[in-house]
Amino acid sequence: MDNIKVLLLGKTGEIRSKIEEMFYSVDYIMLTGTVATEQEAMEILSGNMIDVILIDSNIEEDIYDIADRISSEYAEAAIIILEDSLLEENMHKAFLTGVKDILIKPMNPSVLFDSIYKANEQMKKKIVMRRENSAKNSKKPGRGKVITVYSAKGGAGKTFIAANLAVALAKSKNKRVVLVDLDLDYGNAALAFNIIPRFTILDIVDDIRNIDHEFIESYLTLTPSGIWVLPSGAKLMTNEFINMNHIEIILKTLQNAFDYIIVDMPGRTQDMENPAFILADYLFMVVTPEIAAIRNVKASLGILSERNYPKSKIKIILNRAGGNEIRNRDIETTLNYSVYAHVNADSKRVASTMNVGIPFVQKYPHSTLSKNFNYLAKKIVNPS
Ligand SMILES: Nc1ncnc2c1ncn2[C@@H]1O[C@H](COP(=O)(O)OP(=O)(O)OP(=O)(O)O)[C@@H](O)[C@H]1O
Ligand SMILES: [Mg+2]
Repeated sequence: MDNIKVLLLGKTGEIRSKIEEMFYSVDYIMLTGTVATEQEAMEILSGNMIDVILIDSNIEEDIYDIADRISSEYAEAAIIILEDSLLEENMHKAFLTGVKDILIKPMNPSVLFDSIYKANEQMKKKIVMRRENSAKNSKKPGRGKVITVYSAKGGAGKTFIAANLAVALAKSKNKRVVLVDLDLDYGNAALAFNIIPRFTILDIVDDIRNIDHEFIESYLTLTPSGIWVLPSGAKLMTNEFINMNHIEIILKTLQNAFDYIIVDMPGRTQDMENPAFILADYLFMVVTPEIAAIRNVKASLGILSERNYPKSKIKIILNRAGGNEIRNRDIETTLNYSVYAHVNADSKRVASTMNVGIPFVQKYPHSTLSKNFNYLAKKIVNPS
């Protein structure tokens, strides 16, 4: 039998030395590391295969929140909590966060070993089931639709719209959706989901020769919202290492693995040769109801028209709608395009969801904005 690899997250010297001492006497369990903070635990998890994580209740943060974050990031590691006493509310939280067991200190070594062994066995079964399922679900090579979210002006709401549309699409008819952050210098799409991505677009570019539609998924991060994210490296000068050829390969490969590829573009790109424009099935032009924004969009539409960009692909998305400043009809007349869909303004709640990293459509599913996104998703899935 392979050793069961265990990581201990605990602050006090007492628990550390007790666990180390207990583990001396067993040969099928190995203490791979001992850490004091969530961040250190995440670092070890990202570089090592850990089977079981023991979290001691004697750390300052809420251990159930930590367990929740670890299990959504590293679903293949079993979590066991070491508590001083068993409270009903904690049992509840443990159940909801996928904790496998709660042990009360001081523990008898045989109880701890038994719990580790069972948690590991259960997890192994789950992993096999999940792999079989994902093999069944993974999309056969085909042509996923590319939706490029662009605007002629920074801060129009591209990232907000891209992230929430991605989640709304994934919910509608279980579509496989990936969000690609092409804002290579300042990208923050991963923040919208509060995830710590294992890889970024830079890692794919390093490995570009080996990328195919099955392998690319291992570079993506599955969010708790059910969509995959390919974050940008968000490092200045990233552009020097990523060329148009790389972007084309990545988008075309993703088309073979996903139903929808949502591309979040940087503000003020003028490079219409970018494959995200060329490969787009829909080019979402985000406009806000302000004179300056409308003017910029009009100029961009002019450039696209000069380059013979297909007009049918361009869809105007009016963001922060609902105020009375400028009427829809005036925007349509000025741009000579109809508004394809709109997303209302809700400054307070939008900012709060962006800050906590829970997509708006998930946090406020019954709000007007969520209805806006569901309507947009439906329009894309069933174009009339
Ligand atoms: N419909 C909305 N109602 C209220 N606030 C919004 C709405 N859409 C976006 N915002 C807010 O506007 C700000 C900019 O949004 P976002 O980051 O999505 O824009 P962006 O176009 O991606 O910006 P950048 O050009 O910097 O990439 C954010 O603080 C966001 O919370
Ligand atoms: Mg953005």
